[in-house]
Amino acid sequence: MANNKSFIPVAEPLFGGKELEYITDCVKSGWISSLGKYVRDFEKSFANYCGVRYGVATFNGTVAIHLLAATLNFGPGDEVIMPSLTYVATANGIRYTGATPVFVDSERETWNIDPNTIVDAITPRTKAIFAVHLYGHPADMDSLRAIADEHNLLLLEDAAEAHGACYQGQRVGGLSDAAIFSFYGNKIITTGEGGIIVTDNKEWAERAFFLENQGRYSDNPYWHPEMGFNYRMTNLQAAIGLAQLERIDEMVTIRRRNAAHYNSRLVEVTGLTLPPAAEWAKNVYWMYSIIVEDEFGLDRDALQNRLRQAGIDTRPFFYPVHTLPMYNTGQSLPIAEELARKGLNLPSGATLTPEQIDYICDTIINIATE
Ligand SMILES: Cc1ncc(COP(=O)(O)O)c(C=O)c1O
Repeated sequence: MANNKSFIPVAEPLFGGKELEYITDCVKSGWISSLGKYVRDFEKSFANYCGVRYGVATFNGTVAIHLLAATLNFGPGDEVIMPSLTYVATANGIRYTGATPVFVDSERETWNIDPNTIVDAITPRTKAIFAVHLYGHPADMDSLRAIADEHNLLLLEDAAEAHGACYQGQRVGGLSDAAIFSFYGNKIITTGEGGIIVTDNKEWAERAFFLENQGRYSDNPYWHPEMGFNYRMTNLQAAIGLAQLERIDEMVTIRRRNAAHYNSRLVEVTGLTLPPAAEWAKNVYWMYSIIVEDEFGLDRDALQNRLRQAGIDTRPFFYPVHTLPMYNTGQSLPIAEELARKGLNLPSGATLTPEQIDYICDTIINIATE
């Protein structure tokens, strides 16, 4: 994938730091499972990066959501309000506990959960608002916090796509009661597969650690007072993660620089809405995404086909989760549905070269001016 110059992928990981050195250390020392120094180092360092005290690393981001929901004791009858326009894992991780995801619409400006839709969705069973920082742009956290406080709800973040993004200068992950991240291979920093819960709440961190360790305490390894999970991150994953974390500022800078490059070229194209950048936000552009408006002349799928023919990989926006068969609520959430129909992720990885971005923009401009 990486070496095929005639095909530009949507994302690929950027290595080149101490990944090999740290992995080699794991292999040589034999510490390749979830015991080992890199896991604890990674948890501490990543939590610190988010400005919070505790991190509990997991095997992937989806199980981090389930583990967080289990830690918070969500279960049948409980409801969690979330945007429908998100990756399916946001909902699934909550649903695994038996709790019900309640979907609301998005804002046209930020593509994130619309705070104005939330109050109507609150019931006596609502436990939390689960904000998602879609494609790297933070949600409007102050508005969400005000609603959460007024209605005595938890505020949680799904920051899987937004490592390093800021709301009013403060990093995501530290903007709520607890947050999760993903470190999948296409994320801003990666551990291959991987995830983490970050929080300032010591009791929750300890509970999450207990649950992800098969429901046991370290001083009595075969006594399981409760049914837990094996959701632990491995030392190998954490070794890669720590090396990646050492370079996270660079990863974010590259993505923001690439986005500025895209913006400078695509701003002239009629019928494209460029990614959001609210004045209170630092967008990290996990995905550099465009909305292909009706005025563009071709619809999103047609543009995607044309780009594929030119060797440029893209991804459509997620289907709104309320339209997927296992949720299918029959709701009408017009902004989420419209963004999902018109949104396209362009190649966004940190390995992109300026020449590749120019080629992608030239191709789009040529199509637009045909
Ligand atoms: C918003 C969001 N939440 C959760 C996840 C789940 O993370 P993972 O793929 O590591 O399970 C993703 C991942 O890709 C995501 O984009």
